[in-house]
Amino acid sequence: RPANPCVIVIFGAAGDLTKRKLIPALYNLARSNLLPNEFAIVGVIRAPMSNEDFRIQMSRDIEEFSTNDIDPQLWQWFEKRLYYLAGDFQDTQTYSQLKELLMQVDRECSTQGNYLYYLATAPNFFCDIIWQLGSVGLTQEDGSWRRVIIEKPFGHDLESARALNKNISTILKESQIYRIDHYLGKETVQNILVFRFGNGLFEPIWNHRYIDHVQITVGETVGVERRGGYYEGAGAIRDMVQNHIFQLLAMMAMEPPVSFEADAVRDEKSKLLKAIQPLTPQDVLTHTIRGQYGEGIVKGEHIPNYRLEPRVAPDSGTETFAALKLMIDNWRWADVPFYLRTGKCLPQRVTEIAIQFKRVPSLLFHETSVDQLVPNFLVIRIQPNEGISLQFGAKVPGPTVRMGAVDMDFAYTDYFNSTPSTGYETLLYDCMIGDATLFQRSDNVELGWKVVSPILDVWKALPPRDFPNYAAGTWGPKDADELLQRDGRQWRTSTDFIAPVKH
Ligand code: BG6
Repeated sequence: RPANPCVIVIFGAAGDLTKRKLIPALYNLARSNLLPNEFAIVGVIRAPMSNEDFRIQMSRDIEEFSTNDIDPQLWQWFEKRLYYLAGDFQDTQTYSQLKELLMQVDRECSTQGNYLYYLATAPNFFCDIIWQLGSVGLTQEDGSWRRVIIEKPFGHDLESARALNKNISTILKESQIYRIDHYLGKETVQNILVFRFGNGLFEPIWNHRYIDHVQITVGETVGVERRGGYYEGAGAIRDMVQNHIFQLLAMMAMEPPVSFEADAVRDEKSKLLKAIQPLTPQDVLTHTIRGQYGEGIVKGEHIPNYRLEPRVAPDSGTETFAALKLMIDNWRWADVPFYLRTGKCLPQRVTEIAIQFKRVPSLLFHETSVDQLVPNFLVIRIQPNEGISLQFGAKVPGPTVRMGAVDMDFAYTDYFNSTPSTGYETLLYDCMIGDATLFQRSDNVELGWKVVSPILDVWKALPPRDFPNYAAGTWGPKDADELLQRDGRQWRTSTDFIAPVKH
């Protein structure tokens, strides 16, 4: 069913996010008949431009970035609804002009005063924009709704995230704030809840009695691309762990919510994050690993040292790789380690949650040693090759009892014929219909920061001396392997990721 009539106001509409994701996602929603007829988009950008030029620019961008073919008639419908406002985000005049423009749009498109503000700007503008919107009365909801989507990074650490939450809460109610994490827009991530809570088969074994440990890997082959300036101040923990990886962890490990209502789900996420054993400074030394890539080869291409990237300090201490071991102090997960890792310039792009089940209690097959037992892995492949596979041991045909690893595999492409998407469609649509389930609540974000705070503090106090400590195109520093080897375990490797093992 189409969303409610509304205007989406995009602050920072000249940026990459708008052309690569937001406009293509909105176009896809129109294609699926999920946008109302009473709909418009207002782009707010600093550079002056005419409405006409803005439409021409967007038409060019959609040709380049759309995930689907463009239907000229539908694009015409869409293009007619694009408006433009030039203005500085910090200038009060911008907001009085915006107010006038929105009244005009409401008249022309019957959008009924419902406004969704998308803050696709640098984070230092978030507060200003919200305050300015508030001061001209553009955040008040009387009969209409006003919502704000805030992009990441939400704060730089616990203190700044708290300050930001506090600051914006003086203008907006929590129900008006939609803190986005684009990982929650991925079908495979949403499917974790359906897989866990829609099937009777897995939940009974989803606990410390049956699970040995969990590995979450988010490997990227790309480096920092053109974002050296941002990345230098962030690093892997802030850029990936505190948000995306914690979302995966929470979806995988939280208790069943009492309903699928936004707050019921978000309550469980918070409980899970609260249950993570806080890391002492000593734990940080033994349970966390940081790395920075040096020169190497990724997918056949030569990659220079991270420190030579534009806008990166020649003696940079920023981590482009992080691995950590976390324990969750609750009944379900007692003594089950969660190993998390992410990095730039790794050999493969892979995001997966791999759950290793415990071994059988005793060995019946004399020819087989404990080491030859095939570990039972359930792997949730978030991207690429989206799917789920279950790996187990089977008897290799022949007169002796030998075990081989086999796989039961579900690939999305074998079952579902979905149209290519950007991953932002569901999130934008949900915000338009007022469903915040896939957005972060203030406490979710703060709890994420709380978990990583000790890591950031210790790492800051003890600058790395061995950077760069892994070559681009390898799976991070050796210490990351040792983190698991110490516990008698090992990370899954490239061959495990490529395809299910076939014998
Ligand atoms: C972003 C990070 O949030 O997520 C990037 O800032 C990272 O550094 C990206 O590359 C990864 O997203 P995806 O969807 O490509 O896995």
